[in-house]
Amino acid sequence: MKANVNPDTCIGCELCTSVCPDVFKMEDDGLAHCIVDEVPTNAKACAQEASDSCPTSAISLS
Ligand code: F3S
Repeated sequence: MKANVNPDTCIGCELCTSVCPDVFKMEDDGLAHCIVDEVPTNAKACAQEASDSCPTSAISLS
């Protein structure tokens, strides 16, 4: 599984980085970024939760 944050729609609410810090990190641009190439097995559930909960649906999983 790969995760991607759309910089055009992320509003920097930080929800994903608190729900799933192993996958998402706030960067200097004030937006969340995916920090892994592949989502680790033990972080798939929280990545899904972050994607489902993001207020602007900025996170896509593939
Ligand atoms: Fe941005 Fe959504 Fe995360 S708005 S900070 S990608 S929860």
